[in-house]
Amino acid sequence: MKLITLVQKTLEDKSGEINKMDKAKQTSLILSFETSCDETSVAVIKDGTEILTNIVATQIKSHQRFGGVVPEVASRHHIEQITICINKALESAHVTYADLTGVAITYGPGLVGSLLVGITAAKVVAWAHHLPLIPVNHIVGHIYATNFEHPIEFPALALVVSGGHTELVWMPQEGEFKIIGETRDDAAGETYDKIGRVMGINYPAGPTVDKLAHEGQDTFDFPRAMMKDDNFDFSFSGLKSAFINTVHHADQVGETLDHANLATSFQNAVTDVLVAKAMRALDKYPAKEFILAGGVAANRGLREKLDQELSKRDIEFVKAPLKLCGDNAAMIGAAAEMLQRHGAKADMSLNADPGLEFEWEANEAQ
Ligand code: KG4
Ligand code: ZN
Repeated sequence: MKLITLVQKTLEDKSGEINKMDKAKQTSLILSFETSCDETSVAVIKDGTEILTNIVATQIKSHQRFGGVVPEVASRHHIEQITICINKALESAHVTYADLTGVAITYGPGLVGSLLVGITAAKVVAWAHHLPLIPVNHIVGHIYATNFEHPIEFPALALVVSGGHTELVWMPQEGEFKIIGETRDDAAGETYDKIGRVMGINYPAGPTVDKLAHEGQDTFDFPRAMMKDDNFDFSFSGLKSAFINTVHHADQVGETLDHANLATSFQNAVTDVLVAKAMRALDKYPAKEFILAGGVAANRGLREKLDQELSKRDIEFVKAPLKLCGDNAAMIGAAAEMLQRHGAKADMSLNADPGLEFEWEANEAQ
C-alpha cells in the first residue's frame, strides 16, 4: 500500500515537473534587434504580446544637419550603441541570456550597413548562447506593432506608411503577406520630410507638419495623384514638386505664404489619396481587420480620416500604438514570435537584404 502511494506520488511529482517544463518551453522570450535605419533598438518580448523592455537609441540629432539619414553616419552610430542597448535591455527586463528562447533580427529592407550591424550582433548572441536566430522583415515588424493592441484577425489588410515605404499589404491568413499596391516613387514619410525641408522644418518633418496642418485651412489646390486610377498604387512625387514650385514661386515674387495653410493643404492631399486607395482595396479584399502601421501611422489627420471612413464599414480598425509607430525592436519581437511558430529560422549565413519585398498578390502583379 505504502509502495503504491509512493509510486503514485512520484508519478504526480513527475507530471508536475513535466507540466512545468512544458510551460517553460511554451513561454517565448525573445531578444529582438532593429537597426535598419536610424534607430538602434533592442527589446525583450514575452509571448509576442508583452513588452518587458524596448530600448530605442535615436540618431536623429546627428542626421538633422544633413536634412536626412546619412548611411555611413547611421552605421557608425549603430556600432557605438548596439552593445549598450543589449546590456540595457537585459538589465531593465530583469532577464539573463539563459532565460531567452530566441534572438530576432531585422534583415531587410533598409540600409545595408545599418542592417549588418544588427545582424552581426544578433548572430553573436544566438551563436554564443545556442539560441535560434529568427529573421524578420521590417515591414512585418511594423504590422505586428498592432499585436500589442490585440492579436491580428485574418483576413487582414494593412496600410504601411513610413519614411521608406507606402504599401497596402493583404494578409489572407497568418504568416502570408502579399502586396496589392505601393508607391511608384516617393514614400509618404519621405515626402513629408522633403516638403518640410523647404518650409525650414528639421528632419524628420512629419510630426511638425502634422501639428501645423491642424492649425490651417486647405487653400492650395495640390494634386491628388492616381486617386481615381483603377489600381492600389500611390505617387507622391508630383505633389512634392507642386509644393516646392509653389514655395519657390512665392519666394521669387516676394510673397509670404501661410505655413499652416500650406501644411493643411499638403496633408489633405496625402491623406485623401491614402484613404481613398485603402477603401478601394477593401472593396476588393474584404478584410476582418484593417491595420495602420509605420512612422506615418502616427499622423493625426490620417488616423482621423480613417476612423471616419472605417466607421461606415463592418470592420475592426487597429492602429499601431503611437509609441510603436516609428522603428523599434518591440515590433520585431512580436513578429518573430509568429514567424517562429511558422518555422522561420536562419543560420550563421544570414545576410542583409536591403531590397527585401513581399510578393505581389497574383492578380495584382504589374
Ligand atoms: O517607420 P519610420 O520610423 O522609419 C522608416 O521605416 O522609414 O518612419 C519615419 C517617417 C519619417 O519620414 C517621419 O517624418 C514620418 O515617419 N512621421 C510622420 C509623423 N510622425 C513620423 N509623418 C507624418 N505625420 C506624423 N505625425
Ligand atoms: Zn520603419
